[in-house]
Amino acid sequence: MKAFDAVVVGGGLAGMMAALELRPLRVALVSYRSLGEWTSSAWAQGGIAAAVGDDDSPALHAADTVAAGAGLVEKRVAARLAFDGPHAIERIASLGVRFDRDAQEHYALGREGAHSRRRILRAGGDATGAELVRAIVAAVRTSPTIEPLENATALDVALDRDGRVCGLLLRHKSGEVVAVGASAVVLATGGLGGLYRFTTNPTSSRGSGIALAARAGARLADLEFVQFHPTALDVPSDPLPLVTEALRGEGAVLVDETGARLMEAIHPLGDLAPRDVVARRVFAIRSAGRRAYLDATQAVGADFRERFPTVFAACARFGIDPRVERIPVVAAAHYHMGGIAVDLAGRTSVEGLYACGEVAATGVHGANRLASNSLLESVVYPERIANDIRATVLPSASGFATPAYAAPVEAPEAQWDELRQAMYFGVGVERNEAGLEAALERLRMLGERTASAELRDAATVGGLVARAALRRRETRGSHVRTDFPAPADGERHRSFSTLADLPVAAQTA
Ligand code: SIN
Repeated sequence: MKAFDAVVVGGGLAGMMAALELRPLRVALVSYRSLGEWTSSAWAQGGIAAAVGDDDSPALHAADTVAAGAGLVEKRVAARLAFDGPHAIERIASLGVRFDRDAQEHYALGREGAHSRRRILRAGGDATGAELVRAIVAAVRTSPTIEPLENATALDVALDRDGRVCGLLLRHKSGEVVAVGASAVVLATGGLGGLYRFTTNPTSSRGSGIALAARAGARLADLEFVQFHPTALDVPSDPLPLVTEALRGEGAVLVDETGARLMEAIHPLGDLAPRDVVARRVFAIRSAGRRAYLDATQAVGADFRERFPTVFAACARFGIDPRVERIPVVAAAHYHMGGIAVDLAGRTSVEGLYACGEVAATGVHGANRLASNSLLESVVYPERIANDIRATVLPSASGFATPAYAAPVEAPEAQWDELRQAMYFGVGVERNEAGLEAALERLRMLGERTASAELRDAATVGGLVARAALRRRETRGSHVRTDFPAPADGERHRSFSTLADLPVAAQTA
């Protein structure tokens, strides 16, 4: 068995940063595809939030984060994230990330919904994620102590008799199952948008890290909070291309098919209202059989291609010219605030198991993430995790036996479709008790009947999200219960779950 000081699972920004921060420890970096490829990080358009502007401060950034989170943000966690933001930006700039700058060579700062200041750093206009991933992949590939294990699937976290992490089991593309020894495992597997019929995430983002951590006994948190982005491009594509909120930051407006403004009468911040408010509005219009559009013809117009090249290219693929035409949009699953519960150092409840990036529930996003805080979190937590591993985890891992795994079975597309429809319409933008119960039953049946471990894990994770949504009998942030349409004081707390929240058959199927 090959042994490392640590194993990191995830080829997106958080995983690669964790591997880099752990240098010079010997790290195996496991990724589902090639490093950086087919990750939400690489597709991020909006940018990375940090209080680096002259009129800004970490206190203001933290206050906006707390306000967006609808009463559930852990204030000290938000304060620490905002405080660490400017240093994290310098850190990734030193790794080769080229942020957009103004004529004076200061960072060019954009604004997004619910931010009270211009504090969004971008690269290449709306190609921030691509630039981040380009630079960080290059840094990883030139680090001799990091061994990338690409095109591999993590199967289970291995635990010793005392319940401590001792390694990871993974399957290579060839089908070979391999055990890798390490006394620290960092999960950075991304989100779960791929569980939903409409998503801006890679469709392979199905909460696999949550399934892994839950099987290892880790505590999960805030699972019911799934953020829907109001402006995914409404075209026949899966996943859907994102139409960045930065466009609304620059003055683009949401309209219906008659050209009437959609957000003016809904919220004082209009088109820059918190994302859940805008997503609900777009969802309601679409559910009524109407169409929603983003109109950037006045605010951006002729400069669109230069200023938003990624969105321009996506529109062009579907014959839409956003310089002169309105862009059709739909609400799509975009970001999971919940995940594996971690503390300020990224530690989970299982000794030696860490999580960072979207799969982690740090407490900073509350019921509704402030746009562009997630990339920041993905570069701040890896350093803390690396420091903790260095300080507390023994570098030697005991050997362990490799259990037998059945050969992987592909689930038919129709079963994936069934699962994703159940999630979008039952556990989606709007929820109610009957819809959640029906979705839970559908997920249970899918999980029980399938021979595909991947589909079973997806049904388990979806079931955990639905169960948490059923328990929260109120509307708060991204969690909208039409049968409990207001926030309830008694529900103003984070939620915690474990695998035991599902019926026994669904846990082990
Ligand atoms: C966007 O560009 O609209 C997305 C930014 C984010 O989700 O943080």
